[in-house]
Amino acid sequence: MDKLTIFSGNANPVLAQDICKSLKMKLSEVFVGRFSEGEIRIKLGENVRGKDVFVIQPTCSPPNENLMELLIMIDALRRSSASRITAVMPYFGYARQDRKDQPRVPITAKLVANLLTTAGADRVLTMDLHAGQIQGFFDIPVDHLFAVGVFVDHIVKLKLKDLVVVSPDVGSIKMARAYAKRLGASLAVIDKRRISPEKAEAMYLLGDVEGKDALIVDDLIATGGSMIEAVGALKKYKARKIFAAISHGVLSGPAVENIDKCKDLEKIFITDTIPLDDHKQHPRIKVLSVAPLLAEAIKRIHNEESVSCLFD
Ligand code: R5P
Repeated sequence: MDKLTIFSGNANPVLAQDICKSLKMKLSEVFVGRFSEGEIRIKLGENVRGKDVFVIQPTCSPPNENLMELLIMIDALRRSSASRITAVMPYFGYARQDRKDQPRVPITAKLVANLLTTAGADRVLTMDLHAGQIQGFFDIPVDHLFAVGVFVDHIVKLKLKDLVVVSPDVGSIKMARAYAKRLGASLAVIDKRRISPEKAEAMYLLGDVEGKDALIVDDLIATGGSMIEAVGALKKYKARKIFAAISHGVLSGPAVENIDKCKDLEKIFITDTIPLDDHKQHPRIKVLSVAPLLAEAIKRIHNEESVSCLFD
């Protein structure tokens, strides 16, 4: 395969630099700016003809700007004769609207998949999708990584006692099972009802949590409503220490305020798929890096090697 080349948009340049550091290579030069009215202006800083190009760009906030930067960068790469273009989206935004769960709503996850393919992406590398089935929205190869290994390495060091892994809703049961298996823990599930896009309510808790340390796992934390409800339910049913491991720290609206108020939560672990702005830093939020994992996946994809060992 031709030379490995990595570009980044403005979404998470620190993660892109960390990936390049792991790969012992330099991030390629690109100008990603704006015209006076706000349109995105891109100019690749080097020749990409025949190169195997990876573009690191999670579609986190501002989602529309970051998505559009990614699409325009892919277009520039395609028109500059890159031999293969991989969209590396450690956080794949617009994923929560992944089905018609009520009349007259879009399926944005499918729309984004179509946009990426139309722009010229040859493959996608992503992590902890909101729903695994989103892979099927693409007709190009998708490599879907999991952050569970990164979290588990850290959580075992906490030496938690009689651990129960808690899924805060039915959607995260599969993920919770993967954690429980690796940690030798039991499993509990919260029956969550969503009252509005910003408000969730825990109805029932299935499983035994009394006197146990608990680890809530989820793909993303937005307002923090789901996690706060889960913490409340766990306290009600007499769990001991409560932690959370949540892959993508979207942390929108009152999220940090909610975490601050939630004194029953010992610590929340997130990853660096989304940059944590200074104003969102909190002593109980700990960021773990997925850069080495993404770097290994990029190396393997480039060398046409299997990535399945990264799931172990
Ligand atoms: C829902 O299905 C997701 O997995 C998350 O639980 C949810 O999107 C988190 O949102 P919030 O933090 O606003 O409750």
